Amino acid sequence: MDYDLTGKKIIVVGGAGYIGAHVCKAISDNGGTPITFDNFSSGHKHAVKWGPIETVDLRNKAATLASFTQHKDAYAVVHLASSIEVGIGEKDPAGFYDNNVVGALNMLEAMRSTDLNNLIFSSTCATYGETDQMPLRESQIQNPFSVYGKTKLAIEHMIQSYQKAYGLAYITLRYFNASGADYSGEIGEEHDPETHLIPIALASAARLRGRMKIFGTDYDTADGTCVRDYIHVNDIASAHICGLKAFADGLTQTEVNIGTGLGVSNLEILKMIEHVTGHPVPYDAAPRRDGDLTQLYADPQRAKDVLGFTAKHSELENIIQTAWKFHSKQWRLNDA
Ligand code: UFG
Repeated sequence: MDYDLTGKKIIVVGGAGYIGAHVCKAISDNGGTPITFDNFSSGHKHAVKWGPIETVDLRNKAATLASFTQHKDAYAVVHLASSIEVGIGEKDPAGFYDNNVVGALNMLEAMRSTDLNNLIFSSTCATYGETDQMPLRESQIQNPFSVYGKTKLAIEHMIQSYQKAYGLAYITLRYFNASGADYSGEIGEEHDPETHLIPIALASAARLRGRMKIFGTDYDTADGTCVRDYIHVNDIASAHICGLKAFADGLTQTEVNIGTGLGVSNLEILKMIEHVTGHPVPYDAAPRRDGDLTQLYADPQRAKDVLGFTAKHSELENIIQTAWKFHSKQWRLNDA
């Protein structure tokens, strides 16, 4: 157990999603009760296993207030619900601003009305934008390139303003690339449509889809493909437990990177998939995808200093093995 949450209820907005389900499991593993708030637009009811469900859409202000009022005895709120696919955001900024920014504002207002004062917000390395300054430190100027990153930065700013004016205590976690799956194989990455590199590449390796596309092979990196910092979803979940403990220790505001510090290229991911699964990933080089940045990897030091967090499950081989285990199980279920 990392921090005893016995007797504590935690509202997890987006608890039926990929990261949300792992956060709920971690809360439960530490003795707490996660209350999943979700509109099930992309989350899955079958992923909610560790506490009650409250079906609510943050874009509905009155419904959001009603749901928070019912659970105003919660210890903290974890906010993960958002539109996340970088490419889709470029084509649908209206939907992204509505879902992410308006939804977050309604949630902050509901928290203010119900005196819920501790918030962990899932932000992203995509808020930094294009820069040669690697690894990324939290002090790096934020100049997001994608609509997705812009919506997350807008929310970061709203939260900072609520802290200053209303005394909200917050921890903003800037995740790098969430990946892998719980060791149980019962929860993992299940987006529809799937846009992320690892699940798509695993499906291509398993010959369950055709040749995949690698978006951009002319980037200024060692092998010409984009570089990302892949962090195991169980490590991300642990960072939330560290955050919940930090509130009890009196922390009132911080922004921290949640990454490993290691940059891995898209082609290196494909090589590791071949190593783990024994199957090569068939791919074609394709044009760059709108909104993609060349490279993003974290300086993870501040998360260690402020939250006592370090990644323990994020060795690339472990990430691919756990993801492969989860997806293989899903494919068998779909076949049955
Ligand atoms: N990629 C491909 N082919 C694919 C899918 C992805 O080449 O079929 C490439 C992308 O172009 C990118 C890399 O793989 O270069 C990683 O792409 P992902 O879509 O897996 O992840 P992103 O880095 O775009 O975005 C993810 C999450 C965000 C998060 C972000 C942080 O979607 O929520 O990581 O970088 F904020």
